[in-house]
Amino acid sequence: MTQPLVDPFQRAITYLRVSVTDRCDFRCVYCMAENMTFLPKKELLTLEELDRMCSTFVRLGVQKLRITGGEPLVRRDIMTFFRSMSRHLDSGALKELTLTTNGSQLERFATDLYAAGVRRVNVSLDTLDEEKFARVTRWGRLPQVMRGLDAAQAAGLKVKLNAVALKGFNEDEVETLTRFCGERGMDLTWIEVMPMGDLGNEDRVGQYWSMKDLRARLAESYTLTDLPESTGGPARYVRLEETGQKIGFITPLSHNFCESCNRVRMTCTGELYMCLGQEDMLDLRPALRNHPGNDAPLEQEIRRAIGLKPEGHDFDYSRQRADGQVSRHMSHTGG
Ligand code: 5AD
Ligand code: SF4
Repeated sequence: MTQPLVDPFQRAITYLRVSVTDRCDFRCVYCMAENMTFLPKKELLTLEELDRMCSTFVRLGVQKLRITGGEPLVRRDIMTFFRSMSRHLDSGALKELTLTTNGSQLERFATDLYAAGVRRVNVSLDTLDEEKFARVTRWGRLPQVMRGLDAAQAAGLKVKLNAVALKGFNEDEVETLTRFCGERGMDLTWIEVMPMGDLGNEDRVGQYWSMKDLRARLAESYTLTDLPESTGGPARYVRLEETGQKIGFITPLSHNFCESCNRVRMTCTGELYMCLGQEDMLDLRPALRNHPGNDAPLEQEIRRAIGLKPEGHDFDYSRQRADGQVSRHMSHTGG
């Protein structure tokens, strides 16, 4: 029997988030600069390498795989990869195959995703106003994403919306987004904006708006009941008594979820980040590329990496930077 992955703090690592591309067809102001330079294609893991990587993690006990980016659905032939991963769902080793997407390509791919065994998707959507949507995503168009949501639900995918909370931008949409999700049977989670370095974002869309204040705003319209933690993830949930909806809040800057952290992240070049909040990573690509047809060195490197997983992250009193910022972009590590 293969030993499962357990880190030095006795946390079993069962959840892998994989970025399959650093590219995106949007340029969200809190995520990317307008003129981004992307990695040369040869730096990326090929689809075959991604398969080998993920399959090795599954063999080592990963039960949940989330595909991210950038925008995962802009990677060429990505459905080949999804279809290939579905064999791990069929075997029962993998319990869930899912993705985080901006929704722009869902109209094209929703049916294929469902056929590959995907049952849930997280769609990032911060506003229901066309003009504001164009402003925050720079290159995105809201109707295209709306058609994507329709297609996803029509295909049978369960949709969760992730909205980044932005002061002076979507403060006034707490109710409309809640109602929209309620009517369509979609979950909604709010995410605090993270400081991600210089994005050339002088117009200041992207200002920090705390979950505490957002919660207070929501409490003006609804009766909130705190729900007990369950997922091992960063989200805290409340129930809206009036509608029965569950609303999530993610505060990446707090330490409240580190003790139950079950996840690691891999970039599209094969770097494994043990914690979103720290720069510590281990590059798995050499072990993969230098040993074609032999996964033992890769397994060994993965175990070594998990052995380096820190107890918690350190945004507030960072080891790396005085202000606790993480200099890499979200699209590099995956959201
Ligand atoms: N702060 C919070 N969330 C972010 N995302 C991207 N950049 C940031 C940031 N600076 C989120 C997107 C999407 C996912 C890919 O990451 O909204 O949900
Ligand atoms: Fe693309 Fe998501 Fe980043 Fe927006 S937040 S630019 S959609 S990766």
